[in-house]
Amino acid sequence: MAAQGHDAGTVSPAIAGMTPLFDADSNARVAVRLFEHIDNTTCDQAASPMLVDPAIYSDPDVARLEQDRIFDKVPVLAAHVSELPNAGDFVTIDLPGNRVLVVRQEDGTIRAFVNVCRHRGACLVDEESGHRRVFSCGYHGWAYNCDGALRTVPYADTFGPLDRAEYGLIELPCEERYGLVWVIQRPGGPIDVAAWMGPEMDEILTGYHMERFEVVRMDRFDERMNWKVAEDAFIDGYHLKFVHPNSAGPYFYTNIQVVQDFGRHVRAITPRKVIDQIRFTPDAPIDPYVTVGNFLMPNTTILRHSDHYESLTFVPHPTDPNRSRIDVRLVVPPVTSDEERALWEKNWDILVKTVIMEDLPLNRSLQRALGGRGLKPLILGRNEVGNQAFHRLYDELMATPSF
Ligand code: FES
Ligand SMILES: [Fe+2]
Repeated sequence: MAAQGHDAGTVSPAIAGMTPLFDADSNARVAVRLFEHIDNTTCDQAASPMLVDPAIYSDPDVARLEQDRIFDKVPVLAAHVSELPNAGDFVTIDLPGNRVLVVRQEDGTIRAFVNVCRHRGACLVDEESGHRRVFSCGYHGWAYNCDGALRTVPYADTFGPLDRAEYGLIELPCEERYGLVWVIQRPGGPIDVAAWMGPEMDEILTGYHMERFEVVRMDRFDERMNWKVAEDAFIDGYHLKFVHPNSAGPYFYTNIQVVQDFGRHVRAITPRKVIDQIRFTPDAPIDPYVTVGNFLMPNTTILRHSDHYESLTFVPHPTDPNRSRIDVRLVVPPVTSDEERALWEKNWDILVKTVIMEDLPLNRSLQRALGGRGLKPLILGRNEVGNQAFHRLYDELMATPSF
């Protein structure tokens, strides 16, 4: 769980641009459930505990199979649209199965390509982001247009016959939806983000209108842990006061969540303690008093706060199951003043400090311990509904050669 807004102990006023979380009926239903849980120290529960094989976090064969069964097929979050607003703007992202170049086109669409020169395979663009009209390879100067077409081959007369139409960049399935750019790391297949999200999550994410927001800070953290260890940590509402006793812990109810399992993706609503202020006003919107975790299979969490969003994407390492990368974005309403920017910077510092100083050290150490030999199965409790959903879906994908 990431740290909260400007000051977790106070209630931020609703910010223009944030759509209400619920209609009146749903708001009232969720509020009643939250207060029942708070009063009885209960939470939403799965049917029974669930065992997890610890080998899935460190076995190289499992990691290889994940690439075939999961990551070659599903859309992964590559960028927010504000990271490439104009034609020629680009970002690069290293996915486990390919290095990827994402480019805004002249017609406003966004396309993704394998970030590899078709001549001898040099990485075409090393920068994380920028603006270009032409992408030139640093090795022998082959140059490509923004649409991936091969434009120039130096010393073409000496190179010999070459059908340039056959040597454009390799295109990857890419779709812009919810203000986010989604990519599938393997070329050739279809992409349908709405179908992957399913009707409930598609409606939720559409309603967030993240296309009207901007990324004010983004960073990537190389971590010594399996991507699922990190994903598990950010679904978990059970650890709050134990891992974050002096940061998020005092401001949230630990182990109390309303969890909505949509079959493939999960939404979990965690109450902040200030929700007690609306205990006797059941019609009050709960938005300012909760943090909503949207767990998007396989590897992205989008946290909705009352005035901004945070996205966390857990990217497997290409070869080492004990490593991964965490891409973190702070997605906020358009920034209009230095004061606002300073406020978001403070927010970012709190977020990073909580994640880097608290969640990650514990989970690095967990990863080392999990590599032990002859370990017995781990167990997820009935209270760990979101984690159970994640592992159920993970198991389903891993058991399905095609879906
Ligand atoms: S590898 Fe790119 S031009 Fe030769
Ligand atoms: Fe945490």
